[in-house]
Amino acid sequence: MTDDADARAPYVAGNWKMHKLRGEATAFALALAARLDELDEVDLAIAPPLTCLAEVADVLAPLGVGVLGQNAHAAAGGAFTGEVTMAMLVDAGATGVLLGHSERRQLHGETDGALAEKLPAALAAGLEPILCIGETEAERDHGATEARLAAQLEAGLANVAAAQAATIVVAYEPVWAIGTGKTATPEQAQAAHAHIRAVLAALVGDEVAALIRVLYGGSVKPSNAAELFAQPDIDGGLIGGAALAVEDFVAIAAAAAPR
Ligand code: 13P
Repeated sequence: MTDDADARAPYVAGNWKMHKLRGEATAFALALAARLDELDEVDLAIAPPLTCLAEVADVLAPLGVGVLGQNAHAAAGGAFTGEVTMAMLVDAGATGVLLGHSERRQLHGETDGALAEKLPAALAAGLEPILCIGETEAERDHGATEARLAAQLEAGLANVAAAQAATIVVAYEPVWAIGTGKTATPEQAQAAHAHIRAVLAALVGDEVAALIRVLYGGSVKPSNAAELFAQPDIDGGLIGGAALAVEDFVAIAAAAAPR
């Protein structure tokens, strides 16, 4: 679907996971704010820990940089110790939310069923959901990658109307490439992204699928970002470790600018 790539603005998001105290987060946000004029052709977002989300949003959201929760509950409120609602994220200044990150799926019991509730809840709150999907190493070794990605997309989008789906972002993050230094080759990543777009087309139609941005995540670094982002179905990246340093994040974002 090379012809449609122009319709999708490049997008680079940093997932800080469980890193940075408030002072460090504010220092990063101010330093990134000072570099935004270099990056005006790329949509940017940062997903800070909850404790510093409001500080980051205060600096970056007025400048047009997205600020993302790393997770949220689908319910509008209730006795769910340790959780937050979509509305609470909005209240803290978030513009979007990561949903279904593999660390939440693998380490914190996040299920496809829960995600089917979370996507519509995020959209109803006015948040841009980034649905994270990806196969494990064992699934890839057994030839189950395509089936796993299709199942995760079908479950995640189960309760989303096709007309709303264009505002969703998908992040393809092969579990074996996250934090391991093992990056998918550009060819492996492109093949997975093309499959994802074909599954999206079956779920929400060709036109909407052509508008949905699909980001690659998994050991993206300044040194490998350009060759990944050059692939026709890779619309940017979801960056973990390399998004903790402003210099690396800016270099990766610059690699996503249209050439
Ligand atoms: P790394 O870039 O550290 O591999 O993490 C990727 C990721 O999980 C982003 O959500």
